[in-house]
Amino acid sequence: MLNFEEEGTLNPLPGLSLQPRAGFVPAGGAAPATSDERFTAGNAFRRITVEDKRIINSRADVNQLVPFKYKWAWEKYISACANHWMPQEVNMSRDIALWKDPNGLTDDERRLIKRNLGFFVTADSLAANNIVLGTYRHITAPECRQYLLRQAFEEAIHTHAYQYIVESLALDEGEVFNAYHEIASIRDKDEFLIPFIDTLTDPAFRTGTAENDQKLLKSLIVFSCLMEGLFFYVGFTQILALGRQNKMTGSAEQYQYILRDESMHCNFGIDLVNQIKLENPHLWTSAFREELAELFRKGVELEYRYAEDTMPRGVLGLNAPMFKEYLRYIANRRCQQIGLDVLYAGATNPFPWMSEMTDLKKERNFFETRVIEYQTGGALSWD
Ligand SMILES: [Fe+2]
Ligand SMILES: [Fe+2]
Repeated sequence: MLNFEEEGTLNPLPGLSLQPRAGFVPAGGAAPATSDERFTAGNAFRRITVEDKRIINSRADVNQLVPFKYKWAWEKYISACANHWMPQEVNMSRDIALWKDPNGLTDDERRLIKRNLGFFVTADSLAANNIVLGTYRHITAPECRQYLLRQAFEEAIHTHAYQYIVESLALDEGEVFNAYHEIASIRDKDEFLIPFIDTLTDPAFRTGTAENDQKLLKSLIVFSCLMEGLFFYVGFTQILALGRQNKMTGSAEQYQYILRDESMHCNFGIDLVNQIKLENPHLWTSAFREELAELFRKGVELEYRYAEDTMPRGVLGLNAPMFKEYLRYIANRRCQQIGLDVLYAGATNPFPWMSEMTDLKKERNFFETRVIEYQTGGALSWD
């Protein structure tokens, strides 16, 4: 469990060789018969075209970013870079004063904050490992790899942000960082995820068969729709609810930046899944869809148990039963986004203000200043 040690030596993977990938067929003709032939003048590599590119199992060169095929991935990469932020830019002094004040927060609020951080301090490391040691190797569209590289860095920033909050509040680091071993409601969520991460990080795992391509697709769906798209939402809602009550406003600002990033990660993952479905319709069988529906139900149950554990009584005007409805509402939305039937008919959103937080187009210019600062502030001067 929770072991990401690499074992053995990896076989060649896309991008690790300058040789054409096995089975690459040049346009308008058969593949050269021998490697000598490939390099003979007049019979060199054909230059790749967009038609050669595929999200998985592509035979085209993964080192050539252009010609662009998946413009949505490139555009998300550009947007993510424009949204750059760093945790230490957020002023934490009010949070520190409130945490130190014996009357500043109730016991239930303190428990909620510690359990909340207890999940997140390790969750984004799991996410980063999943991308870097797993997903990245199996995705053969360079535009998507470019976004995954940016996403991996954002996961590092998120882990930094959670660590920065723990350090600012002088919390017991051992307690918070070990919560994923010691707190059942957190451990259960991670244990649900680990097999899907293990599939992709297994050095021997390769795509190319329907069975393995389904395994990849399932891991991508679990990661984007259930981890980033569901398991983060009780925690985000709790801290943003504190911020709305003018408590822990620095932490809430950090979480708001993280929520913005995670919304994009989730949407990128969903675009990736839908494109793989489009290119490989044979993978989307009814048995596979039923298996996914079962995973969604399990994910909702685990996240609800986490809500109950972090809020044994009502706190901040929130209580666990409100989250049952919210999680069903979110799960329905994720199902619709990837083309599954909704699981919980009629579920509604008890936290409409969270949608405003997630939908950046409606957001006040909270972020815009920073975006502009980053877009211009990092320019080099050659004077
Ligand atoms: Fe993250
Ligand atoms: Fe993420």
